[in-house]
Amino acid sequence: MSSIEKKVEPTGGRPVNPALRRPFDGTETWYEQVYTHAGEDVNKVPWARRNNTPLLLPWLDGQSMRGRRTLVVGCGLGDDAEALAERDLAVTAFDIAPSAIDWCRRRFPASTVDYQVADLFHLPADFQRGFEFVFEALTIQSMPPRMHADAMEAIAACVAPGGTLLIICYGRQPGEPTDGPPWHLTRGELEQFRQLGLQEVRFEEHMEGGTPLFLAEYSRAAL
Ligand SMILES: C[S@@+](CC[C@H](N)C(=O)[O-])C[C@H]1O[C@@H](n2cnc3c(N)ncnc32)[C@H](O)[C@@H]1O
Repeated sequence: MSSIEKKVEPTGGRPVNPALRRPFDGTETWYEQVYTHAGEDVNKVPWARRNNTPLLLPWLDGQSMRGRRTLVVGCGLGDDAEALAERDLAVTAFDIAPSAIDWCRRRFPASTVDYQVADLFHLPADFQRGFEFVFEALTIQSMPPRMHADAMEAIAACVAPGGTLLIICYGRQPGEPTDGPPWHLTRGELEQFRQLGLQEVRFEEHMEGGTPLFLAEYSRAAL
């Protein structure tokens, strides 16, 4: 049983999605299968909350982001992308799973969000340094640890000069085992964003359901 099921079944009482029981075989097929097998039932997508990622909106309230070119990484069912668009950010949101993007378009037919199917590791050239605000929640941790460094590099590359990167993810202590999906991040892993040329603006550790929840904000120096 995956840790997603372990987390969801006893606490959420949600219907089980059979795709969650499949061995992880790479983000492209595994996540697509989860969305496909959910059959339009949001309750069968364990990370879909039908509201926003904790900490995102309180963080946003302290910012002046109106009109900013914004990228939502691994947008899933689109709730965070929609919340940002409602606050007048100019949002592009992508996910590797075509079913997720189709579902976003059906859920929010009047949306101003530009939803795209894209793989973080093969992004369009104009994403490079293309966004004044990049937001990532729970996507790095949706990949095995051996992929985290490359995922962080691809995310950081999207941040424009003068731009902001916000990461919200579940955390674990150094050396604490992880048997994902998901594979929670250590604070040490997040240090890589600094090595990639970003400055850490803030790092906060909260708790959600007994699990550490990290909020990490970075900026890229203006030209
Ligand atoms: C745990 S879900 C989180 C979804 C959303 N960010 C949220 O918080 O509800 C991880 C998402 O990342 C997407 N994903 C995984 N690998 C990806 C990749 N290489 N490129 C783009 N999206 C990816 C999955 O399809 C999935 O929708």
